[in-house]
Amino acid sequence: MGSKPSAQRQIIVPYPSENGQNCPGENTDYTVYTDSGNREDSSFGDPLLVTAIDFGTTYSGSVFCFKGYKNRILAGTQGFYQDDERIPTVILLNPDQTFNSFGYEAQDTYSKLKEEKAQYFYFEHFKMALYKNMESSSNTTTLMDIRGRRVKAKDIFVMLIKNLLHLAMDIVKGLQTRDIAWIVTIPASWSESSRKLVQDSVLSVGIEDKNLHFVLEPHAAAVYCMNVDTSSTSSPMSRPPKELHSELADTAEETGITVGDKCIILDIGGGSTDIWVYEVEGQNELKEMHKATEEIGGNSVNSEFIELMKGLVGEPVWSDFQEDYTGSYYTLMRDFDRKKRSFSNDVDSVTMSLENELLHVLKETTGDTLSDVITMIGADDKIKFKSHLNKVTLDKETMEELFEKSVDAIVQLIEKTLRVCQKWSVHTMFMVGGFSESPYLREIIRSKFSEIRVVFPDDAKLVVLRGAVILGYQSQ
Ligand SMILES: Nc1ncnc2c1ncn2[C@@H]1O[C@H](COP(=O)(O)OP(=O)(O)OP(=O)(O)O)[C@@H](O)[C@H]1O
Ligand SMILES: [Mg+2]
Repeated sequence: MGSKPSAQRQIIVPYPSENGQNCPGENTDYTVYTDSGNREDSSFGDPLLVTAIDFGTTYSGSVFCFKGYKNRILAGTQGFYQDDERIPTVILLNPDQTFNSFGYEAQDTYSKLKEEKAQYFYFEHFKMALYKNMESSSNTTTLMDIRGRRVKAKDIFVMLIKNLLHLAMDIVKGLQTRDIAWIVTIPASWSESSRKLVQDSVLSVGIEDKNLHFVLEPHAAAVYCMNVDTSSTSSPMSRPPKELHSELADTAEETGITVGDKCIILDIGGGSTDIWVYEVEGQNELKEMHKATEEIGGNSVNSEFIELMKGLVGEPVWSDFQEDYTGSYYTLMRDFDRKKRSFSNDVDSVTMSLENELLHVLKETTGDTLSDVITMIGADDKIKFKSHLNKVTLDKETMEELFEKSVDAIVQLIEKTLRVCQKWSVHTMFMVGGFSESPYLREIIRSKFSEIRVVFPDDAKLVVLRGAVILGYQSQ
């Protein structure tokens, strides 16, 4: 192979601000630069397959897309949870800190551990810690497990990335490495240190540098939104699992977005909400005008539900239930998450099954039944418990209260951004990310911001990955 000047690889990353404080809520400039390092082989340039990975606070995903079938994206799924195109961002380590399991499997394995549970290391929601990471080296950054023990962050990321890539392996088998473009998405407001940590982790799992591209999450999302046919995106459509269709627009008229337009991308995930204002400069070329991040997202509703439950049964009972009956705890929380997803203004109340084990711990510890405690705290009108069915019903007002903190923060973030945008004319806002799929949140945003066109692309939680695939085919 000759050492001719290489095909240049675009890495789209933010520069850290001058003081290095590239934290959520701050606006920092970013630029697009080109890695012009010498390449041994410039043959990469027409990938047969693009693989994109996106790791979120709550869920991560990897998707694959073959050349010639760019409207058909395949998502990696795990085990029995074949319907979920995204997998919980959870890593479980053995007592000797070797890898045990990932995603749903980690949740299930951890749930089944008995007394030995405390010796295992369970990591979840660890992406949030990296927003404020200022460590100078990816070898010194650490992450805390749920019991507060620290482990080298790079080790955890290497495991996460390996597992996300593993989901692609069957598809990738038989293809030459040079035929695959690997795209990894990273948050726009991450510090330089955190980006470096992820880059080092990806390279150390054996992906060749020249096939690897990093893109900003909002950039990927915006690119997808620019290409999607917005005439068919205002209502969610059910999709077959695993194979994800994208109705990509053939013309600029279909997207309704043309050069010079300024748009907003609002990415509402589990742990954070990112807002990005950009100007369209050309085909998939975007200029960032403004960005901000709030550390709040859909998980806040779940946290508020946990606070509600603690208020009912008491902190010690809840902690014992979570520690001693972890499997039941997950069942309850997944059930709540499902109810959360379908909650809308039309829903009068939400009924869900309560796990026997919770009621058992309550009775053992306090001698009370749930009906007793509901009456004791005077919540009979808002929360009903049918003991013969083990079902609890939360009225609409209570559900709205669980959403309140996140909804208020998101509304304020949009209001603040629209004030900044007053000097430009911004007429479209795309809502992406898992929590954007909430019918309740959508209704509120629609009614509060009627002056702006709000577009909800299908499968909002996959928009970043889909945009990353588009960039993968374009990045040669
Ligand atoms: N249909 C839905 N209705 C309401 N909430 C939803 C829906 N689908 C997913 N969510 C919520 O969205 C959140 C996850 O969204 P997403 O997968 O975009 O986040 P993430 O990428 O893991 O997090 P982040 O982007 O903050 O790092 C969870 O809180 C989940 O409960
Ligand atoms: Mg995300």
